[in-house]
Amino acid sequence: MNKKFNHLIDMDDYTVSHWNAIIGLAQDIMRRPDSYSDKCSGRIMATLFYEPSTRTQMSFQAAMIRLGGSIIGFDNPSNSSVAKGENLKDTIKIVSSYSDILVMRHTSEGSARAAALAADCPVINAGDGGHLHPTQTLTDLLTLKTELGRLDNLTVGLCGDLKYGRTVHSLLKALSCYPNNKFILISTESLSLPSYIKDVLSARGCEFREVRTIDEAMPELDMLYMTRIQRERFDSEEEYKRQKDVYKLTPAKMRLAKKEMIVMHPLPRVNEIEVEVDDDPRAAYFRQALNGMYVRMALILTTLNNEPSCKPLLTGVIHKDVCCSNKKCVTQTELYLPHSFRKFGDILICEYCDERILL
Ligand code: NCD
Repeated sequence: MNKKFNHLIDMDDYTVSHWNAIIGLAQDIMRRPDSYSDKCSGRIMATLFYEPSTRTQMSFQAAMIRLGGSIIGFDNPSNSSVAKGENLKDTIKIVSSYSDILVMRHTSEGSARAAALAADCPVINAGDGGHLHPTQTLTDLLTLKTELGRLDNLTVGLCGDLKYGRTVHSLLKALSCYPNNKFILISTESLSLPSYIKDVLSARGCEFREVRTIDEAMPELDMLYMTRIQRERFDSEEEYKRQKDVYKLTPAKMRLAKKEMIVMHPLPRVNEIEVEVDDDPRAAYFRQALNGMYVRMALILTTLNNEPSCKPLLTGVIHKDVCCSNKKCVTQTELYLPHSFRKFGDILICEYCDERILL
């Protein structure tokens, strides 16, 4: 039987009022950071990064240090017992017994949920393969609130790698919960948004359309969310080469946009935003990266201090003989995990990675 903790695996684990409270707290921390400087004294946060990271890892670490807490962890699993073949369950079991909160980024889709099943402290998903990245979404929500003053009645363009871009998936899950948001999905056909996220938008009654160029969307947008083509997630280098550099935001394209529109990007940028755009006051991506530290301070405080309120980790049915068909799903490598699926008409949905399996 799992103990109850405030894990953050997916934005859908909590209500919109919970997110609004975290954003409000982050804004208060931005106004008076000194009043929070010892709120986590004596607490330990573990950061386990199985994949590269600059902003997410360091902003989490800076956040905990600014709250008076301490950090342990690794950013290169080959320096840990993972290199000796230790499974995820055992690593998480041990590290969560040393710490009060555990932040993990991993290559496998669904790994954060798998980690939470084994953990003795709250687990925060800092990116699970090409699946989800909820703490980037909190950063994005705080940025929208600070820059535009609202999270509703927005026309948002999302451009680039909508297939593998985990930040896009989590952001759409969140923004679709606020009223009257409209989405323009700008991508090539092969990097279009996965159908399970399109179904979330439809189920929540959100207007969205798919287009192939930035130009046709630009004049309507309140926010343009640029993303990197996720080279490391492609099956072949040839396919990556076909997709890279299709979209490039330039000062000329910025002239098509509204005066009060903003450009966001989770970063790192490769070639998709020309450096000249940085000087445009509407380029909000460096301010967005700083917001990440404040919102993670608010998240750490809420996770440690609030009564557990996240949804149960597994709610579906265990099918021992059915395997998830997603090659990148955590159940492919962590063989002890229960094969848990939600049933939706004629399909089973993997509870870890959201892959759909036709019965
Ligand atoms: C993103 C990620 O890791 O998914 N970066 C981040 O966390 N700020 C985006 C990316 O790597 O392209």
